[in-house]
Amino acid sequence: MNFSELVAMRYSVRDYRPDPVDEADLAMVLEAARLAPTACNKQPFRLVLIRTHGRQEELQRIYGRPWFGAAPLVLGVCAVEAEGWVRRDGKNHAEIDAAIVMDHIIMAATERGLGTCWVCNFDPVATREVLHLPDGVEPLAFTPLGWPADQARAKVRKPLAELVLNR
Ligand SMILES: Cc1cc2nc3c(=O)[nH]c(=O)nc-3n(C[C@H](O)[C@H](O)[C@H](O)COP(=O)(O)O)c2cc1C
Repeated sequence: MNFSELVAMRYSVRDYRPDPVDEADLAMVLEAARLAPTACNKQPFRLVLIRTHGRQEELQRIYGRPWFGAAPLVLGVCAVEAEGWVRRDGKNHAEIDAAIVMDHIIMAATERGLGTCWVCNFDPVATREVLHLPDGVEPLAFTPLGWPADQARAKVRKPLAELVLNR
């Protein structure tokens, strides 16, 4: 599969089969996260690996959609601002880095046929409690990681003419 095919194939999977994810597939996805580029190579992120079995109640506290804990795994990416590269105007890049890491996770999973869905609409307070996150480790995004039980939908996007500023 080439990159264009991968981009076209990815979609937000919101229904999962409970079938296990191979440890080799998980390792490949985590390695893609580790190899993501970060500003000044600071790598200001932490990955949270959640094995969902028996943790449905806790997962529903993080994000209350039934499909969130339906896959065998959930991965979270946290930003660590204290480790982020800071531009001279003060802009900290840790969250940008963490977003790139999540995109690597999602694209690597897609290549294996695994389903994912960006989840940012989680409850940050409950998330910190459930995952025992230390101070300074800010959850940025989660995704289930598992086998899709739904079908891709047609992509609805703005036309490029609206998105590209020709200067
Ligand atoms: C930063 C970000 C946050 C998102 N948060 C959620 C979320 O909390 N819940 C959800 O169901 N989808 C979430 N999505 C998925 C988007 O709704 C989805 O990517 C968009 O509608 C395009 O659909 P597609 O992913 O199927 O191409 C999020 C996507 C991004 C990029």
